[in-house]
Amino acid sequence: MKCQSTNCEYAIRFAIRQIRMAFVSDWHHCFMIEITTHSASQTKNIASALAKEIKKTPHKTGAFVVALEGNLGSGKTTFAQGFARGLGIKDIPKSPTFVLMNVYPFGKARHLVHIDCYRIKSSKELLHLGVKEIFKDPHSIVVIEWAERIKKILPKSIVRISFHHGKKSNERKLKVL
Ligand SMILES: Nc1ncnc2c1ncn2[C@@H]1O[C@H](COP(=O)(O)OP(=O)(O)O)[C@@H](O)[C@H]1O
Ligand SMILES: [Mg+2]
Repeated sequence: MKCQSTNCEYAIRFAIRQIRMAFVSDWHHCFMIEITTHSASQTKNIASALAKEIKKTPHKTGAFVVALEGNLGSGKTTFAQGFARGLGIKDIPKSPTFVLMNVYPFGKARHLVHIDCYRIKSSKELLHLGVKEIFKDPHSIVVIEWAERIKKILPKSIVRISFHHGKKSNERKLKVL
């Protein structure tokens, strides 16, 4: 499904439902959703709406992992910032230039773990930081930039979103895979 409208409400609702299904029942996606955004704030709003839904959905088997894929400047950090805002985190994640992983507490003993694999050389760097344990923790929500670089160590049940530049300078295409 493609969405060209300004608020993309229908596509967002559909994406949320799909994510929920995958989350709750280990159900594999039958559809791919593509949402076009026209500004950074629109990308943040979509991310925030998704985060609010994910926060509401109980997860028993491990962390909820959102894998963000795409080139530099395609909007992954912008998405992570909106996502954090949706969880009620005020100290919004910046792109961690030299830091691989940042942890932001929210709610009652829950955590947003923001990982940026831009500078990673090997998945082992994350294993040393205890990422396997984080993936097992149902209290954590993990957002990973450049997730395509650490495919080998990602859990099976994740939500993947790929980011692409559109034709216009402020246009980005988000595909929920
Ligand atoms: N529709 C859009 N969605 C997200 N970011 C956008 C959009 N239009 C312009 N931008 C700008 O593009 C840049 C995206 O950068 P960033 O989120 O850091 O990308 P990445 O983390 O993928 O490298 C930001 O400067 C942001 O303001
Ligand atoms: Mg980034």
